[in-house]
Amino acid sequence: MTSKTMSPEEVARLAVSLRKHFVAHPGYETARKLLGELRDKRQAELDLCLPSEGRAIVVIGESGSGKTTAVRKMLEHMGPPDAVSGEYRWISIRVPTPATQKDLARAILHALAFPLARDTTASRMWEMVAFHLHLRKTWLIHLDEGQELGGRGSDNEKAAVINALKSLMQIADWPINLIISGTPELHELLTQDPQLSRRFYVVRFLPQTELDSRRNVAGLVGSYAKQAALPLAADLRDVEFIPRLIHAGREQFGIIVELIIGAITRALAENQAALNAASFASHYAQRTGETPARNPFLAPDFRSIPTGRTPLGPEPPTPPKRRR
Ligand SMILES: Nc1ncnc2c1ncn2[C@@H]1O[C@H](COP(=O)(O)OP(=O)(O)OP(=O)(O)O)[C@@H](O)[C@H]1O
Ligand SMILES: [Mg+2]
Repeated sequence: MTSKTMSPEEVARLAVSLRKHFVAHPGYETARKLLGELRDKRQAELDLCLPSEGRAIVVIGESGSGKTTAVRKMLEHMGPPDAVSGEYRWISIRVPTPATQKDLARAILHALAFPLARDTTASRMWEMVAFHLHLRKTWLIHLDEGQELGGRGSDNEKAAVINALKSLMQIADWPINLIISGTPELHELLTQDPQLSRRFYVVRFLPQTELDSRRNVAGLVGSYAKQAALPLAADLRDVEFIPRLIHAGREQFGIIVELIIGAITRALAENQAALNAASFASHYAQRTGETPARNPFLAPDFRSIPTGRTPLGPEPPTPPKRRR
């Protein structure tokens, strides 16, 4: 294999192209399929002039599982806004914090290129939302960071926000479909309302556990290294390497990908002939500022190192204290 020296600019360009690369995974495929079905249903209803209620796809995953990236990819497939007709078939917004019903309405209007000049009542704002959604032919709204809908507001305000979402799905002549992505608290929040929960499909971006995902993660390392034309060093075949990577990446798909790209970039920048465990260790050290004793790629008892991984079960296990 060649070990051609790359300039820092070439390394940076390659890193950007690796970061742009999208890897389809089961959670993404499920959500994409559901969205395709919603779109086809909507089109059929329009053709027959029979609009029915909207539905929601709720994407749940821990931070770094890849929710925003996956939904963005799905939306890309739906096509960009039509500059000629002014149609915005879909819009994507980050739930504002705090998420009062007025703030949410304002954010939707802003995404529809109708920024509100003056404050008005919430009900008037939602009337405007319904009007502009129809005007722009928007049939789909993506709300990212959906757990913020639970915000810090009063119970009344929270209920008003949930009601506003329900109303969007029930606008008589132009019902809206939703994609709401967020962390597991979002699921708790939405299931509190039976009328809302019967209208949604839940897609979970599951953790990449050592038990189930070793092969997948090993495949990711191999395919990213291949894209960078870097061979894999023998130490990456160590039985513990993939578990170390999974632990360092908090079992989250997106964080694992980021660690792989980081290690590759490091190896290329240091002009290494192959991608090895040391590249992962030094990238992790650089990323987290952690000492070798707390680096999952170096420490013998790596599973006890807190990497920020969400604990399983209600009580986080206390890692045994070791003295070295
Ligand atoms: N399918 C994928 N293919 C390639 N890279 C991905 C993929 N999914 C996520 N990533 C990468 O993982 C990182 C985290 O992804 P993302 O921001 O989508 O996670 P998230 O679940 O939205 O996290 P948060 O809850 O913190 O917003 C990003 O750097 C992204 O580029
Ligand atoms: Mg996100």
